[in-house]
Amino acid sequence: MFPTHRPRRLRTHPQLRRMVRETVLSKNDLIYPLFAVPGEAIAKEVKSMPGVYQLSVDKIVEEAKEVYDLGIPAIILFGIPADKDADATGAWHDCGIVQKAATAVKEAVPDLIVIADTCLCEYTPHGHCGYLEVGDLTGRVLNDPTLELLKKTAVSQAKAGADIIAPSGMMDGFVQSIRVALDEAGFQDTPILSYAAKYASAYYGPFRDAAESTPQFGDRRTYQMDPGNAREALKEIELDVAEGADMLMVKPALAYMDIIWRIKEASNLPVAAYNVSGEYSMVKAAALNDWIDEERVVMETLTGFKRAGADLILTYHAKDAARWLDG
Ligand code: PBG
Ligand code: ZN
Repeated sequence: MFPTHRPRRLRTHPQLRRMVRETVLSKNDLIYPLFAVPGEAIAKEVKSMPGVYQLSVDKIVEEAKEVYDLGIPAIILFGIPADKDADATGAWHDCGIVQKAATAVKEAVPDLIVIADTCLCEYTPHGHCGYLEVGDLTGRVLNDPTLELLKKTAVSQAKAGADIIAPSGMMDGFVQSIRVALDEAGFQDTPILSYAAKYASAYYGPFRDAAESTPQFGDRRTYQMDPGNAREALKEIELDVAEGADMLMVKPALAYMDIIWRIKEASNLPVAAYNVSGEYSMVKAAALNDWIDEERVVMETLTGFKRAGADLILTYHAKDAARWLDG
């Protein structure tokens, strides 16, 4: 008996395959991360992330123009301050590096959406995402004092021109605290993209080189999620939704496709997937050795995130992907 049903019939011609393709990646889905450093005319490549640079504000502006011209709708800004202190002053100061970069980008490229990462790890000497009791050497971040600093950070970022606030420190109640603070400061229309399900992951290694935010002692397991947990991710998003999050993020992406899927099923908010630094570096390393076809691997992976339910993808490959989409 020969088969009656022949799915291969619809694979016989490229145009036919195009017609029945269920998931199509678009530039609209992409968000490009940028790292701002003090100084001028600085473009310092991150060793573990070929093609990714720490950029001074003037260079960030050039980069923002290029990103916009490529048709990518948004960037997310991280900052490396000149000085770090226990109160993470560089995070919330009106002259902070992210604030300066946000203002400069919005002035030069008003239609590019600027997302500000809202966290303290780049701004504290210990590298943790929140406030520590003076003398603490264990890294047990104090939740509620951290919220106060995050509120100030979010408001100053919004004042500087950031279009979207993206709190990433996994503090309990951070969405609500930031929502109230933004509203009180007159930023009722500034959306919050919450890093809702962020796992304690080894895939962040290269980012910590880029952002100079490696914890100096302890680790982030008392605030980031345990990689074994999926139902807990649903708990996290339930809280974030109740607290007023406008969009939800899953991070990392590759090892957490099931989480992207579950969150998409469980909520009606846009879902973002963060294709993190380690995921980028692995692909780059293999590609630089000519072991894989970078374009095909990246496009397959990004399409996979979308198929899993991601509406938005934060990726260091965004500029490449935009070019490849242009063919
Ligand atoms: C911390 C933060 C991390 C990333 C962005 N912000 C993770 C961490 O250091 O724990 C990782 C991004 C990446 O790896 O690309 N707030
Ligand atoms: Zn952090």
